[in-house]
Amino acid sequence: MNALENSQIRDIALAPKGHDKINWVKNHMPILNQLEDEFRRTQPFAGKKVAICLHLEAKTAYLALVIQAGGAEVSVAASNPLSTQDDVVAALVDSGVTAFAWYGATDEEYFGHIDALIHTRPDLFIDDGGDMTSLFHSKYPELLENIVGGAEETTTGIIRLRSMANDGALKIPMIAVNDAMTKYFFDNRYGTGQSSWDAIMRTTNLVVAGKTAVIAGYGWCGKGAAMRAKGLGAKVIVTEVDPIKAIEAIMDGFQVMKMVDAAPLGDFFLTVTGDKKVITEEHFAVMKDKAILANAGHFDVEIDKEALNKMCVKHGHTKPNIEEYHFADGRKVYLLGEGRLVNLAAGDGHPAEIMDLTFALQALSLEYVLNNPGLANTVHSVPKEIDERVAKIKLQALNVSIDALTAEQQEYLSSWQL
Ligand code: ADE
Repeated sequence: MNALENSQIRDIALAPKGHDKINWVKNHMPILNQLEDEFRRTQPFAGKKVAICLHLEAKTAYLALVIQAGGAEVSVAASNPLSTQDDVVAALVDSGVTAFAWYGATDEEYFGHIDALIHTRPDLFIDDGGDMTSLFHSKYPELLENIVGGAEETTTGIIRLRSMANDGALKIPMIAVNDAMTKYFFDNRYGTGQSSWDAIMRTTNLVVAGKTAVIAGYGWCGKGAAMRAKGLGAKVIVTEVDPIKAIEAIMDGFQVMKMVDAAPLGDFFLTVTGDKKVITEEHFAVMKDKAILANAGHFDVEIDKEALNKMCVKHGHTKPNIEEYHFADGRKVYLLGEGRLVNLAAGDGHPAEIMDLTFALQALSLEYVLNNPGLANTVHSVPKEIDERVAKIKLQALNVSIDALTAEQQEYLSSWQL
């Protein structure tokens, strides 16, 4: 198949609905509003092609339009086959963005879309999870010659990038947006916390208060998921493999135990580890009837779907985004969003005010790569000035002023003599 053949969308008539969604988030993303005005004046991306491989919902669409306002020719593909919102994609196409994506793409279509995105021959790109970076390097290394650099959104993608860099396989400079403080402090913790529970609640329409929620993983996303579950009135159990994070979870007031011990207790299970086979056959075997299973890690590998399929005697859909698995002993469990990122597969992703911080980092990181030719072909941190700039604009937007160090205080902090 010619890589560009699938440059089509489902239904352009959906565009007005998509524009409404984009306008809504735009009204709640003041940092991007400011960058849009600035980019319109300064045209940092004039004459450049920018490829975006992210979850294609309204906030991402606004990021694409901000980069387009900065002079770029923008193309997009999805970073997950179930997170694409067709109306938003139609609105992007209506706004002059090239799109290769539709909701529910098969694996072949999904990678075909990323393939097509690579064949737009971008100068810069944004990735989420590393599928585009990996396909680019493994299948089309010759096309990397065009690339000035890229930026990666998520923990999973950065783990993959670091493996590439360690193997000497990374051929371009990549900015680790996830590792900026204005990213993981807010997006991973408050974004994942709120949006995952929002998706679970809107999909199941069940009560959380008084029930037991098992959170697998106590990284920044897990901390947010546990904190929000507690706020909703759940009894929270955390499972971990890292002894330090396990103590942190205990000190934060949560019960910590092995998954096999938590399995019979949980009403809700939410995996946020970034690793595979976190909930497996031995756990399904002892779960309560009607337990709800969801994942908020990047890939659909945390809940072992293969084992679930093997064990169950009947499998069906109940309502959108809920699959029912019946076991021989009469119990059943429910899997949300096919075990893919529940907040995007069964929701709208993180709140707009949160993605405002993250996507401002993305836009400024691309500008930074462009303005600093010759960066080494490795993984780079977001410069501190960019991190602080994003935080300052956010405070301004919140109408909050903070104190500044006096000269005397600064001198005190830098002195060491008695
Ligand atoms: N919306 C767009 N990208 C997202 C992400 N990585 N996480 C949550 N919501 C998003």
